[in-house]
Amino acid sequence: GSGSLWGGRFTGGPADALAALSKSTHFDWRLARHDIAGSRAHARVLYGAGLLDETELDGMLTALDQLDADVASGAFVAALEDEDVHSALERGLIERAGPALGGKLRAGRSRNDQIATQVRMYLREHARLIADGVLDVVDALCAQAEAHPGAAMPGRTHLQHAQPVLLAHHLLAHAWPLLRDVDRLRDFDRRAAYSPYGSGALAGSSLGLDPAAVAAELGFDGPVENSIDGTASRDLVAEFAFVTAMIGVDLSRISEEVIVWATKEFGFVTLHDSFSTGSSIMPQKKNPDVAELARGKAGRLIGDLTGLLATLKGLPLAYNRDLQEDKEPVFDAVDTLALLLPAVSGMVATLTFHTDRLAELAPQGFALATDVAEWLVRQGVPFREAHEIAGACVRVCEERDIELWDLSDADLAGISAHLTPAVREVLSVDGSLASRDAIGGTAPVRVAEQLAAAQARAASL
Ligand code: ARG
Repeated sequence: GSGSLWGGRFTGGPADALAALSKSTHFDWRLARHDIAGSRAHARVLYGAGLLDETELDGMLTALDQLDADVASGAFVAALEDEDVHSALERGLIERAGPALGGKLRAGRSRNDQIATQVRMYLREHARLIADGVLDVVDALCAQAEAHPGAAMPGRTHLQHAQPVLLAHHLLAHAWPLLRDVDRLRDFDRRAAYSPYGSGALAGSSLGLDPAAVAAELGFDGPVENSIDGTASRDLVAEFAFVTAMIGVDLSRISEEVIVWATKEFGFVTLHDSFSTGSSIMPQKKNPDVAELARGKAGRLIGDLTGLLATLKGLPLAYNRDLQEDKEPVFDAVDTLALLLPAVSGMVATLTFHTDRLAELAPQGFALATDVAEWLVRQGVPFREAHEIAGACVRVCEERDIELWDLSDADLAGISAHLTPAVREVLSVDGSLASRDAIGGTAPVRVAEQLAAAQARAASL
Protein backbone atom coordinates (compact mmCIF):
# COMPACT_ATOMS: atom_id res chain seq x y z
CA GLY A 1 0.00 0.00 0.00
CA SER A 2 1.08 3.57 -0.57
CA GLY A 3 -0.61 5.06 2.48
CA SER A 4 2.76 5.95 3.92
CA LEU A 5 1.95 9.67 4.27
CA TRP A 6 -1.23 9.15 6.26
CA GLY A 7 -1.16 5.63 7.68
CA GLY A 8 -2.40 6.53 11.18
CA ARG A 9 -6.14 6.57 10.85
CA PHE A 10 -6.43 4.03 8.01
CA THR A 11 -6.69 0.28 8.33
CA GLY A 12 -5.36 -0.48 4.87
CA GLY A 13 -3.87 1.02 1.75
CA PRO A 14 -5.81 2.59 -1.12
CA ALA A 15 -7.56 0.52 -3.77
CA ASP A 16 -5.49 -0.01 -6.90
CA ALA A 17 -7.99 2.03 -8.88
CA LEU A 18 -7.61 4.99 -6.50
CA ALA A 19 -3.84 4.73 -6.48
CA ALA A 20 -3.79 4.70 -10.27
CA LEU A 21 -6.14 7.69 -10.51
CA SER A 22 -4.31 9.62 -7.83
CA LYS A 23 -0.84 9.22 -9.26
CA SER A 24 0.93 12.26 -10.70
CA THR A 25 4.61 11.29 -10.67
CA HIS A 26 4.57 10.77 -14.45
CA PHE A 27 4.05 14.51 -14.94
CA ASP A 28 5.03 16.26 -11.69
CA TRP A 29 8.51 14.72 -11.64
CA ARG A 30 9.74 17.73 -13.54
CA LEU A 31 9.23 19.70 -10.31
CA ALA A 32 11.70 17.53 -8.37
CA ARG A 33 14.46 20.15 -8.41
CA HIS A 34 12.09 22.77 -7.05
CA ASP A 35 10.75 20.36 -4.41
CA ILE A 36 14.29 19.76 -3.15
CA ALA A 37 15.11 23.48 -3.18
CA GLY A 38 11.97 24.03 -1.09
CA SER A 39 13.06 21.27 1.29
CA ARG A 40 16.44 22.92 1.82
CA ALA A 41 14.79 26.24 2.65
CA HIS A 42 12.26 24.49 4.88
CA ALA A 43 15.02 22.66 6.77
CA ARG A 44 16.67 26.03 7.46
CA VAL A 45 13.50 27.57 8.92
CA LEU A 46 12.93 24.45 11.04
CA TYR A 47 16.44 25.03 12.37
CA GLY A 48 15.67 28.73 12.84
CA ALA A 49 12.60 27.76 14.91
CA GLY A 50 14.67 25.40 17.04
CA LEU A 51 13.00 22.28 15.63
CA LEU A 52 16.26 20.91 14.18
CA ASP A 53 19.64 21.25 15.87
CA GLU A 54 22.75 22.10 13.91
CA THR A 55 23.82 18.49 13.43
CA GLU A 56 20.35 17.59 12.22
CA LEU A 57 20.33 20.52 9.80
CA ASP A 58 23.71 19.47 8.39
CA GLY A 59 22.54 15.87 8.06
CA MET A 60 19.34 16.97 6.38
CA LEU A 61 21.12 19.23 3.88
CA THR A 62 23.67 16.53 3.09
CA ALA A 63 20.90 14.02 2.47
CA LEU A 64 19.05 16.54 0.27
CA ASP A 65 22.24 17.16 -1.75
CA GLN A 66 22.61 13.42 -2.27
CA LEU A 67 18.99 13.13 -3.26
CA ASP A 68 19.36 16.05 -5.68
CA ALA A 69 22.37 14.40 -7.33
CA ASP A 70 20.57 11.07 -7.50
CA VAL A 71 17.51 12.65 -9.11
CA ALA A 72 19.74 14.46 -11.62
CA SER A 73 21.64 11.28 -12.51
CA GLY A 74 18.50 9.17 -12.66
CA ALA A 75 19.70 6.96 -9.79
CA PHE A 76 16.59 7.97 -7.86
CA VAL A 77 13.27 7.75 -9.69
CA ALA A 78 9.63 7.55 -8.67
CA ALA A 79 8.56 4.08 -7.59
CA LEU A 80 5.31 2.45 -8.52
CA GLU A 81 3.85 3.09 -5.08
CA ASP A 82 4.78 6.79 -4.95
CA GLU A 83 1.76 9.03 -5.39
CA ASP A 84 3.41 12.30 -6.32
CA VAL A 85 6.80 13.96 -6.55
CA HIS A 86 6.56 15.21 -2.96
CA SER A 87 5.87 11.81 -1.39
CA ALA A 88 8.49 10.16 -3.59
CA LEU A 89 11.16 12.65 -2.56
CA GLU A 90 10.22 12.28 1.09
CA ARG A 91 10.78 8.54 0.68
CA GLY A 92 14.13 9.29 -0.97
CA LEU A 93 15.10 11.61 1.86
CA ILE A 94 14.22 9.05 4.53
CA GLU A 95 16.23 6.41 2.65
CA ARG A 96 19.26 8.73 2.79
CA ALA A 97 18.86 10.45 6.18
CA GLY A 98 17.18 7.61 8.06
CA PRO A 99 13.61 7.72 9.42
CA ALA A 100 14.49 9.58 12.64
CA LEU A 101 15.89 12.61 10.85
CA GLY A 102 14.14 12.30 7.47
CA GLY A 103 10.75 12.14 9.17
CA LYS A 104 11.24 15.59 10.71
CA LEU A 105 11.14 17.59 7.49
CA ARG A 106 7.39 17.32 6.96
CA ALA A 107 6.66 19.41 10.08
CA GLY A 108 4.85 22.65 9.29
CA ARG A 109 4.41 22.14 5.59
CA SER A 110 1.85 20.48 3.38
CA ARG A 111 1.92 19.23 -0.15
CA ASN A 112 -0.63 21.99 -0.75
CA ASP A 113 1.81 24.81 -0.09
CA GLN A 114 4.67 22.82 -1.60
CA ILE A 115 2.94 22.30 -4.93
CA ALA A 116 1.64 25.86 -5.13
CA THR A 117 5.18 27.16 -4.57
CA GLN A 118 6.83 24.74 -6.95
CA VAL A 119 4.45 25.50 -9.79
CA ARG A 120 5.23 29.19 -9.39
CA MET A 121 8.97 28.47 -9.41
CA TYR A 122 8.65 26.33 -12.51
CA LEU A 123 6.47 28.82 -14.39
CA ARG A 124 8.71 31.77 -13.51
CA GLU A 125 11.76 29.90 -14.79
CA HIS A 126 10.01 28.88 -18.00
CA ALA A 127 8.47 32.30 -18.56
CA ARG A 128 12.06 33.53 -18.95
CA LEU A 129 12.98 30.75 -21.37
CA ILE A 130 9.84 31.31 -23.44
CA ALA A 131 10.56 35.05 -23.51
CA ASP A 132 14.02 34.27 -24.94
CA GLY A 133 12.44 32.14 -27.67
CA VAL A 134 9.86 34.81 -28.49
CA LEU A 135 12.61 37.44 -28.69
CA ASP A 136 14.40 35.20 -31.20
CA VAL A 137 11.32 35.38 -33.44
CA VAL A 138 11.29 39.17 -32.96
CA ASP A 139 14.97 39.27 -33.93
CA ALA A 140 14.26 37.26 -37.08
CA LEU A 141 11.43 39.62 -38.05
CA CYS A 142 13.62 42.68 -37.38
CA ALA A 143 16.50 41.20 -39.37
CA GLN A 144 14.22 40.62 -42.37
CA ALA A 145 12.88 44.17 -42.01
CA GLU A 146 16.44 45.49 -41.85
CA ALA A 147 17.44 43.46 -44.93
CA HIS A 148 14.57 44.92 -47.00
CA PRO A 149 14.46 48.60 -46.07
CA GLY A 150 12.85 49.90 -49.27
CA ALA A 151 10.76 46.96 -50.47
CA ALA A 152 7.07 47.71 -51.04
CA MET A 153 4.26 45.20 -50.89
CA PRO A 154 0.49 45.21 -51.27
CA GLY A 155 -1.05 46.02 -47.91
CA ARG A 156 -4.38 44.31 -47.49
CA THR A 157 -7.60 44.60 -45.54
CA HIS A 158 -10.21 41.85 -45.87
CA LEU A 159 -7.40 40.10 -47.79
CA GLN A 160 -8.13 42.55 -50.65
CA HIS A 161 -5.53 44.99 -51.97
CA ALA A 162 -5.83 48.12 -49.85
CA GLN A 163 -2.78 50.40 -49.89
CA PRO A 164 0.92 49.87 -50.57
CA VAL A 165 3.05 49.42 -47.47
CA LEU A 166 6.68 48.69 -46.82
CA LEU A 167 7.47 45.01 -46.33
CA ALA A 168 9.48 46.10 -43.28
CA HIS A 169 6.39 47.85 -41.86
CA HIS A 170 4.34 44.68 -42.31
CA LEU A 171 6.99 42.46 -40.73
CA LEU A 172 7.31 44.79 -37.76
CA ALA A 173 3.53 44.63 -37.33
CA HIS A 174 4.12 41.00 -36.38
CA ALA A 175 6.99 41.94 -34.05
CA TRP A 176 5.05 44.34 -31.81
CA PRO A 177 2.47 41.82 -30.54
CA LEU A 178 5.31 39.43 -29.73
CA LEU A 179 7.11 42.19 -27.83
CA ARG A 180 3.90 42.72 -25.85
CA ASP A 181 3.77 38.97 -25.18
CA VAL A 182 7.26 39.17 -23.69
CA ASP A 183 6.12 42.14 -21.62
CA ARG A 184 3.15 40.01 -20.47
CA LEU A 185 5.56 37.29 -19.36
CA ARG A 186 7.61 39.85 -17.38
CA ASP A 187 4.41 41.17 -15.86
CA PHE A 188 3.27 37.65 -14.96
CA ASP A 189 6.62 37.12 -13.25
CA ARG A 190 6.18 40.26 -11.16
CA ARG A 191 2.83 38.95 -9.84
CA ALA A 192 4.07 35.36 -9.42
CA ALA A 193 7.00 36.49 -7.26
CA TYR A 194 5.28 35.64 -3.94
CA SER A 195 5.86 32.34 -2.23
CA PRO A 196 2.99 30.23 -0.81
CA TYR A 197 5.47 28.23 1.30
CA GLY A 198 4.41 28.40 4.95
CA SER A 199 0.71 28.43 4.09
CA GLY A 200 0.58 24.80 5.18
CA ALA A 201 -2.56 22.94 4.13
CA LEU A 202 -4.55 26.20 4.16
CA ALA A 203 -4.27 27.94 7.55
CA GLY A 204 -0.55 28.59 8.02
CA SER A 205 1.83 27.04 10.52
CA SER A 206 1.92 27.07 14.31
CA LEU A 207 5.60 26.15 14.49
CA GLY A 208 7.19 29.59 14.35
CA LEU A 209 8.56 29.08 10.82
CA ASP A 210 9.57 32.12 8.79
CA PRO A 211 7.83 32.24 5.38
CA ALA A 212 9.84 35.33 4.39
CA ALA A 213 13.14 33.47 4.81
CA VAL A 214 11.87 30.57 2.66
CA ALA A 215 10.59 33.03 0.04
CA ALA A 216 13.93 34.82 -0.15
CA GLU A 217 15.88 31.56 -0.44
CA LEU A 218 13.64 30.40 -3.29
CA GLY A 219 14.07 33.63 -5.25
CA PHE A 220 10.70 35.18 -4.44
CA ASP A 221 10.13 38.85 -3.53
CA GLY A 222 8.26 37.77 -0.39
CA PRO A 223 5.64 35.40 1.03
CA VAL A 224 1.94 35.52 0.08
CA GLU A 225 -0.31 37.60 2.32
CA ASN A 226 -2.99 34.93 2.75
CA SER A 227 -2.38 31.22 3.30
CA ILE A 228 -5.77 30.24 1.81
CA ASP A 229 -5.03 32.28 -1.32
CA GLY A 230 -1.53 30.83 -1.38
CA THR A 231 -2.73 27.24 -1.53
CA ALA A 232 -6.05 27.54 -3.40
CA SER A 233 -5.56 30.17 -6.11
CA ARG A 234 -4.44 29.24 -9.59
CA ASP A 235 -5.11 32.51 -11.41
CA LEU A 236 -1.39 32.89 -12.00
CA VAL A 237 -1.25 29.49 -13.66
CA ALA A 238 -4.18 30.49 -15.85
CA GLU A 239 -2.48 33.79 -16.66
CA PHE A 240 0.61 31.91 -17.79
CA ALA A 241 -1.61 29.67 -19.93
CA PHE A 242 -3.23 32.75 -21.46
CA VAL A 243 0.11 34.29 -22.40
CA THR A 244 1.33 31.05 -23.95
CA ALA A 245 -1.95 30.73 -25.88
CA MET A 246 -1.59 34.33 -27.05
CA ILE A 247 1.95 33.60 -28.23
CA GLY A 248 0.57 30.59 -30.10
CA VAL A 249 -2.07 32.75 -31.74
CA ASP A 250 0.47 35.42 -32.69
CA LEU A 251 2.77 32.80 -34.22
CA SER A 252 -0.22 31.31 -36.01
CA ARG A 253 -1.06 34.62 -37.67
CA ILE A 254 2.50 34.97 -38.97
CA SER A 255 2.34 31.39 -40.13
CA GLU A 256 -0.93 31.77 -41.99
CA GLU A 257 0.64 34.59 -43.99
CA VAL A 258 3.74 32.54 -44.75
CA ILE A 259 1.51 29.71 -45.98
CA VAL A 260 -0.39 32.04 -48.29
CA TRP A 261 2.72 33.93 -49.40
CA ALA A 262 4.44 30.68 -50.40
CA THR A 263 1.69 29.71 -52.86
CA LYS A 264 2.19 29.97 -56.61
CA GLU A 265 -0.63 32.52 -56.71
CA PHE A 266 1.06 34.90 -54.28
CA GLY A 267 4.69 34.06 -54.95
CA PHE A 268 5.90 36.45 -52.25
CA VAL A 269 8.34 34.11 -50.53
CA THR A 270 10.32 30.94 -50.93
CA LEU A 271 10.87 28.82 -47.87
CA HIS A 272 14.36 27.60 -47.18
CA ASP A 273 14.79 23.89 -47.87
CA SER A 274 15.75 23.29 -44.25
CA PHE A 275 12.42 24.72 -43.08
CA SER A 276 10.12 23.03 -45.57
CA THR A 277 9.08 19.49 -46.33
CA GLY A 278 8.45 17.40 -49.41
CA SER A 279 5.74 14.97 -50.42
CA SER A 280 6.06 11.21 -50.43
CA ILE A 281 4.17 11.04 -53.73
CA MET A 282 4.40 14.43 -55.48
CA PRO A 283 8.03 15.06 -56.38
CA GLN A 284 7.54 18.79 -56.99
CA LYS A 285 6.06 19.62 -53.58
CA LYS A 286 7.63 21.99 -51.08
CA ASN A 287 5.36 22.37 -48.11
CA PRO A 288 5.25 24.96 -45.30
CA ASP A 289 4.89 22.39 -42.51
CA VAL A 290 6.53 24.58 -39.86
CA ALA A 291 3.91 27.25 -40.42
CA GLU A 292 1.08 24.72 -40.52
CA LEU A 293 2.23 23.07 -37.30
CA ALA A 294 2.44 26.51 -35.69
CA ARG A 295 -1.14 27.15 -36.76
CA GLY A 296 -2.18 23.77 -35.44
CA LYS A 297 -0.32 24.07 -32.14
CA ALA A 298 -2.10 27.38 -31.49
CA GLY A 299 -5.31 25.36 -31.19
CA ARG A 300 -3.63 23.07 -28.72
CA LEU A 301 -2.38 26.01 -26.60
CA ILE A 302 -5.88 27.50 -26.58
CA GLY A 303 -7.13 24.10 -25.39
CA ASP A 304 -4.61 24.11 -22.54
CA LEU A 305 -5.96 27.47 -21.38
CA THR A 306 -9.65 26.64 -21.70
CA GLY A 307 -9.21 23.24 -20.02
CA LEU A 308 -7.49 24.87 -17.07
CA LEU A 309 -10.13 27.59 -16.70
CA ALA A 310 -12.84 24.92 -16.78
CA THR A 311 -11.05 23.04 -14.00
CA LEU A 312 -10.89 26.16 -11.82
CA LYS A 313 -14.44 27.36 -12.34
CA GLY A 314 -16.62 26.70 -9.31
CA LEU A 315 -13.94 25.33 -6.97
CA PRO A 316 -14.65 26.28 -3.36
CA LEU A 317 -11.81 27.42 -1.11
CA ALA A 318 -9.37 26.14 -0.12
CA TYR A 319 -7.38 23.31 -1.75
CA ASN A 320 -9.27 20.71 -3.76
CA ARG A 321 -7.68 17.77 -5.47
CA ASP A 322 -9.02 19.06 -8.78
CA LEU A 323 -6.09 21.45 -8.59
CA GLN A 324 -3.73 18.61 -9.42
CA GLU A 325 -5.09 19.06 -12.96
CA ASP A 326 -3.48 22.50 -13.23
CA LYS A 327 -0.06 21.19 -14.18
CA GLU A 328 -0.41 19.17 -17.36
CA PRO A 329 -1.91 22.04 -19.38
CA VAL A 330 0.91 24.44 -18.57
CA PHE A 331 3.58 21.75 -18.90
CA ASP A 332 2.14 21.01 -22.33
CA ALA A 333 2.21 24.72 -23.18
CA VAL A 334 5.88 24.92 -22.13
CA ASP A 335 6.82 21.82 -24.14
CA THR A 336 4.85 22.99 -27.17
CA LEU A 337 6.50 26.41 -27.27
CA ALA A 338 9.93 24.90 -26.65
CA LEU A 339 9.51 23.00 -29.92
CA LEU A 340 7.71 25.69 -31.82
CA LEU A 341 9.61 28.90 -31.15
CA PRO A 342 12.99 27.83 -32.61
CA ALA A 343 11.26 26.39 -35.68
CA VAL A 344 9.30 29.59 -36.32
CA SER A 345 12.29 31.86 -35.78
CA GLY A 346 14.34 29.66 -38.13
CA MET A 347 11.61 29.69 -40.74
CA VAL A 348 11.26 33.48 -40.62
CA ALA A 349 15.02 34.08 -40.59
CA THR A 350 15.52 31.96 -43.73
CA LEU A 351 12.59 33.21 -45.85
CA THR A 352 13.53 34.59 -49.24
CA PHE A 353 11.29 37.51 -50.20
CA HIS A 354 10.61 38.10 -53.90
CA THR A 355 10.78 41.86 -53.78
CA ASP A 356 10.25 42.39 -57.53
CA ARG A 357 6.98 40.51 -57.39
CA LEU A 358 5.96 42.34 -54.20
CA ALA A 359 6.77 45.71 -55.80
CA GLU A 360 4.85 44.85 -58.97
CA LEU A 361 1.75 43.91 -57.00
CA ALA A 362 1.98 46.77 -54.49
CA PRO A 363 -0.01 49.36 -56.52
CA GLN A 364 -2.37 46.90 -58.19
CA GLY A 365 -6.04 46.61 -57.41
CA PHE A 366 -6.25 50.45 -57.49
CA ALA A 367 -4.33 50.59 -54.23
CA LEU A 368 -3.43 54.23 -54.91
CA ALA A 369 -7.04 55.44 -54.99
CA THR A 370 -6.78 56.69 -51.40
CA ASP A 371 -3.70 58.68 -52.41
CA VAL A 372 -5.72 60.38 -55.15
CA ALA A 373 -8.46 61.27 -52.67
CA GLU A 374 -5.98 62.58 -50.10
CA TRP A 375 -4.15 64.58 -52.80
CA LEU A 376 -7.49 66.21 -53.65
CA VAL A 377 -8.04 67.02 -49.96
CA ARG A 378 -4.66 68.76 -49.92
CA GLN A 379 -5.95 70.85 -52.89
CA GLY A 380 -8.89 71.95 -50.73
CA VAL A 381 -11.52 69.50 -52.00
CA PRO A 382 -13.83 68.18 -49.22
CA PHE A 383 -13.02 64.52 -48.53
CA ARG A 384 -16.58 63.43 -49.31
CA GLU A 385 -16.22 64.81 -52.85
CA ALA A 386 -12.60 63.67 -53.15
CA HIS A 387 -13.70 60.11 -52.33
CA GLU A 388 -16.35 60.30 -55.09
CA ILE A 389 -13.83 61.61 -57.66
CA ALA A 390 -11.23 58.95 -56.84
CA GLY A 391 -13.98 56.32 -56.98
CA ALA A 392 -14.94 57.57 -60.42
CA CYS A 393 -11.31 57.16 -61.53
CA VAL A 394 -11.43 53.54 -60.39
CA ARG A 395 -14.72 52.95 -62.23
CA VAL A 396 -13.31 54.34 -65.50
CA CYS A 397 -10.14 52.24 -65.13
CA GLU A 398 -12.13 49.11 -64.37
CA GLU A 399 -14.32 49.64 -67.45
CA ARG A 400 -11.26 50.05 -69.63
CA ASP A 401 -9.16 47.45 -67.82
CA ILE A 402 -6.33 49.90 -67.14
CA GLU A 403 -4.57 51.14 -64.00
CA LEU A 404 -4.93 54.59 -62.41
CA TRP A 405 -1.63 55.81 -63.80
CA ASP A 406 -2.77 54.92 -67.33
CA LEU A 407 -5.43 57.67 -67.25
CA SER A 408 -4.50 60.47 -69.64
CA ASP A 409 -4.62 64.16 -68.74
CA ALA A 410 -7.86 64.35 -70.72
CA ASP A 411 -9.32 61.36 -68.86
CA LEU A 412 -8.48 63.00 -65.55
CA ALA A 413 -9.90 66.37 -66.54
CA GLY A 414 -13.01 64.61 -67.82
CA ILE A 415 -13.60 63.01 -64.43
CA SER A 416 -13.07 66.23 -62.44
CA ALA A 417 -11.62 69.66 -63.02
CA HIS A 418 -9.75 69.20 -59.75
CA LEU A 419 -7.70 66.38 -61.30
CA THR A 420 -4.77 68.27 -62.84
CA PRO A 421 -1.76 66.32 -64.16
CA ALA A 422 0.01 67.14 -60.88
CA VAL A 423 -1.96 64.31 -59.27
CA ARG A 424 0.54 61.92 -60.87
CA GLU A 425 3.01 62.76 -58.12
CA VAL A 426 1.02 60.43 -55.83
CA LEU A 427 0.31 57.81 -58.49
CA SER A 428 3.48 55.96 -57.64
CA VAL A 429 4.18 53.51 -54.85
CA ASP A 430 7.20 55.50 -53.70
CA GLY A 431 5.19 58.71 -53.56
CA SER A 432 2.39 56.99 -51.70
CA LEU A 433 4.73 55.43 -49.15
CA ALA A 434 6.74 58.61 -48.60
CA SER A 435 3.57 60.62 -48.00
CA ARG A 436 2.47 58.51 -45.00
CA ASP A 437 5.07 60.06 -42.79
CA ALA A 438 3.33 60.65 -39.47
CA ILE A 439 4.41 58.56 -36.46
CA GLY A 440 3.38 54.96 -37.03
CA GLY A 441 3.07 55.40 -40.78
CA THR A 442 4.68 53.36 -43.53
CA ALA A 443 7.01 56.09 -44.91
CA PRO A 444 10.59 54.75 -45.15
CA VAL A 445 11.92 57.37 -42.69
CA ARG A 446 9.30 56.43 -40.10
CA VAL A 447 9.80 52.68 -40.60
CA ALA A 448 13.56 53.07 -40.09
CA GLU A 449 12.82 54.78 -36.76
CA GLN A 450 10.25 52.12 -35.92
CA LEU A 451 12.76 49.35 -36.55
CA ALA A 452 15.22 51.02 -34.19
CA ALA A 453 12.44 51.41 -31.61
CA ALA A 454 11.45 47.73 -31.89
CA GLN A 455 15.06 46.65 -31.49
CA ALA A 456 15.48 48.95 -28.49
CA ARG A 457 12.28 47.56 -26.97
CA ALA A 458 13.51 43.99 -27.49
CA ALA A 459 16.81 44.84 -25.82
CA SER A 460 15.02 46.43 -22.86
CA LEU A 461 12.73 43.49 -22.11
N1 ARG B 1 -0.28 16.29 -6.06
C1 ARG B 1 -1.13 17.31 -5.56
C2 ARG B 1 -1.32 18.46 -6.54
O1 ARG B 1 -0.73 18.44 -7.56
C3 ARG B 1 -0.57 17.88 -4.31
C4 ARG B 1 -0.89 17.01 -3.20
C5 ARG B 1 -2.01 17.49 -2.43
N2 ARG B 1 -2.79 16.37 -2.06
C6 ARG B 1 -3.70 16.40 -1.13
N3 ARG B 1 -4.35 15.34 -0.92
N4 ARG B 1 -3.94 17.48 -0.43
O2 ARG B 1 -2.07 19.37 -6.31
